[in-house]
Amino acid sequence: MISSLKNKSVLSLYDLSVEEIETVLKTAETLKIQRRVGQTVKILEGKVIALIFQKPSTRTKVSFLAGISQLGGTPLYLDGRDLQLGRGETIADTARVLSRYVDAIVARVFAHSDLEELAKYGSIPVINALSDDYHPCQALADILTIYEKVNKVRGIKLANFKGLKITYTGDGDSNMAHETLLLAAKTGMDISLASHKDYQPNDKVMEKVNKVAEESGSKIVITEDPLEAAKDADILYTDALVSMGEDEIGQRKLKDLIAFQLDSKMIEAAKSDAIVMHPLPAIRGAEISAEAMESPRAVIWDQAENRLHVQKALLSLILG
Ligand code: CP
Repeated sequence: MISSLKNKSVLSLYDLSVEEIETVLKTAETLKIQRRVGQTVKILEGKVIALIFQKPSTRTKVSFLAGISQLGGTPLYLDGRDLQLGRGETIADTARVLSRYVDAIVARVFAHSDLEELAKYGSIPVINALSDDYHPCQALADILTIYEKVNKVRGIKLANFKGLKITYTGDGDSNMAHETLLLAAKTGMDISLASHKDYQPNDKVMEKVNKVAEESGSKIVITEDPLEAAKDADILYTDALVSMGEDEIGQRKLKDLIAFQLDSKMIEAAKSDAIVMHPLPAIRGAEISAEAMESPRAVIWDQAENRLHVQKALLSLILG
């Protein structure tokens, strides 16, 4: 059966239906087992995938390079500065040309509109490897991790996430805050987001998130009180307080947001078996305490591993 994901671009979780997310999770689970037993099917044989990165990366870059190779495909890593884009060639022209050479584009960019333009003018699928607004590959790895650590006994249906509570603390107007709000709205989980009044999620994102939440029944609470947000949570989540490209406003952000650090007080306020998540890279002592990072509740390394499996699943379903 041909997947509805065939040839589809994925720029954020908005682009995926509940059924498509469930298919990605099931495929990722299979690929994870195949990797454990050394029997990965070479489903990307003959496919070339361009990776355009305008920002630094450890996890996304390495997991895409490794994952494409494990599936028998050829990854073509292109530093954004090496392309003619840096000398003024348009995104639209780059998309049209690359579409003649490769089978898909994975891109990490600053402006989300650059991804929309790549997808609009190219004739091949585009996968968001992080933009200033969204990070869907991370969100898919997070859903798989929550399923494995909190929800496995109930099966891989998103309907089974209903009733769980996720707490996001830190910068509320960042790509991971947006994507985690969407993750909750898509899965039907309740979410409490704690942030300083000057760093609340923006109206454009909230309008979209609220629409998705109306359909799933997810309850969304935005607060300035991190302990209230953490109360009875099943999942505690944070990300870097200063995003890539924000060096100039970094010190002020750190000062404003340090009160939202994921620490042992938040862990105590959450359920006794709550898990601690962070997409990495982490700055201990800023968005998360060293204690929380090393706590037995932290599932951060499994979360990082799952990037590999969900991205392989996504590529297999889009190009396989
Ligand atoms: N979480 C994440 O995207 O990590 P990198 O920035 O290292 O790719």
